[in-house]
Amino acid sequence: MKTATRTTSPYPDQKPGTSGLRKKVKVFRQPNYLENFVQSVFDVLGDAAGKTLVLGGDGRYFNREALQTIVKIAVANGVGKLLIGQGGLLSTPAASCVIRKYKAHGGFILSASHNPGGPEEDFGIKYNVSNGGPAPENFTNAVYARSLDIAEYRIAELPDIDLDKIGVTQIDAVAIEIIDPVADYAELMGHLFDFPLISQALKAGSITLCFDAMHAITGPYARRILEEKLGASAGSVINAIPKEDFGGGHPDPNLVHAHVLAERMYGSSAPTLGAASDGDGDRNMVMGSRFFVTPSDSLAVLAANAHLLPGYKAGLRGVARSMPTSQAVDRVARAMGIDVYETPTGWKFFGNLLDDKRITLCGEESFGTGSDHVREKDGLWAVLFWLNLIAIKKQSVSEIVRDHWRRFGRDYYSRHDYEGIETARADGLIENLRSQLAELPGKTFGDYTVSYADDFRYVDPVDGSVSEKQGIRIGFENGSRIVFRLSGTGTEGATLRIYVERYERDPERHGQDTQEALADLIALARNLSQVHERSGLDKPTVIT
Ligand code: G1P
Ligand code: ZN
Repeated sequence: MKTATRTTSPYPDQKPGTSGLRKKVKVFRQPNYLENFVQSVFDVLGDAAGKTLVLGGDGRYFNREALQTIVKIAVANGVGKLLIGQGGLLSTPAASCVIRKYKAHGGFILSASHNPGGPEEDFGIKYNVSNGGPAPENFTNAVYARSLDIAEYRIAELPDIDLDKIGVTQIDAVAIEIIDPVADYAELMGHLFDFPLISQALKAGSITLCFDAMHAITGPYARRILEEKLGASAGSVINAIPKEDFGGGHPDPNLVHAHVLAERMYGSSAPTLGAASDGDGDRNMVMGSRFFVTPSDSLAVLAANAHLLPGYKAGLRGVARSMPTSQAVDRVARAMGIDVYETPTGWKFFGNLLDDKRITLCGEESFGTGSDHVREKDGLWAVLFWLNLIAIKKQSVSEIVRDHWRRFGRDYYSRHDYEGIETARADGLIENLRSQLAELPGKTFGDYTVSYADDFRYVDPVDGSVSEKQGIRIGFENGSRIVFRLSGTGTEGATLRIYVERYERDPERHGQDTQEALADLIALARNLSQVHERSGLDKPTVIT
């Protein structure tokens, strides 16, 4: 096999965001753009010789083409083995599972998660390290620094490999193995959950299910696990065939984008459980009949009940949530006498806490929940968790959540996104909020007196690393909060996220409409940030 060293020149914009490098396909298609980034990763790794790497992606447009390039660069950089999901597919949590199971050195995951796919849409790439989790910030910063002065990359002169045929191809010293993308992940799920119990309930029809794969990666996983292994009736998984453009949709599991599912769940013959996952399979949305489970509540419910499930019967070590996620899980942790950690947005911050055995469960308000079984959030895992819980409790989703609120109180919670704001205006809005931080504490706005206002700063308790400017937090004396931050995953303009939450102990008042229950706080958040004036938008683009 021949390898070539080719000269290249740097691109200035290869700084990974909240979750890897995400850009329009057109950007990735510029000459050497992908090559530069991948070689930069190998340059930072430094020691890939003889190591095993895992490759796979969410199947979006450009997935296969990019994989062929990565294979050739990896081979030229001396890897010993590549494990690749058949068809170039691996869901993000399955990639994490495979890296861990086969003790790989790391892996490349090709995905732009919930962003749309297609020639005019988004593509993404991220590197995960040997614990199966996203590379930490010092690594991604080093890759970015390298990408700014890269001058050459190495590439093997090989024909394209057959991504569809399971088996091993040996190219000189390098073994390239195409693996079943579902098998290892399905086996892991079987250890965590009571498959016989779930299966019995599904086959008897005492639990019915609709899982919306949104034409994305979880289709094959959900079909195999829910329908074939557990016996959910055929057709329980909808939009199950992954498509390069996700059928033209936006593969983001929320009430706006998973509207087919939402309509079914609000219809007359809704199944017991409705669920959806995103482009790369790490997000989840959970619904009951005429009932939507807020992701923050889902995390709290899972934490309160985990000990009932086979994989968690030893109890939880601790829990963690991203800063903007509601404080519902904190109440559970306090009641259980376990630690709760508040981390910046993005899954990568949970890795150290999981590796250091400080936590067992973690989650984000953005439809992400997971545990120590892998180092990514895991959409189908959350769905199986709920299925197992329903099978044990023999209650509906809404009964389970309402019981939870009666016990712990309810955290009304909502996120308002303002998308496509001109970057300079969005930065100005945040700067303006920052300038108010010193004078806000002690001020009263109607029922709300500010107890603290800051720009969230995280000190990782395991390695002491510090992450600054992770979002503006305004906390009130009654426990309510408003959080403002700019998205780190978008590819066009800026997105402002406003998160509001209010705690209600009294079960008599748990039946309010969320937006109504939060109306005062939402108005306050708008006034403090002057979002409408500053963004030029007169209402949020997405409310979850
Ligand atoms: C968003 C979510 C965040 C999640 C990330 C990757 O990031 O808010 O919780 O970890 O996607 O799925 P953001 O766009 O807010 O930076
Ligand atoms: Zn995702």
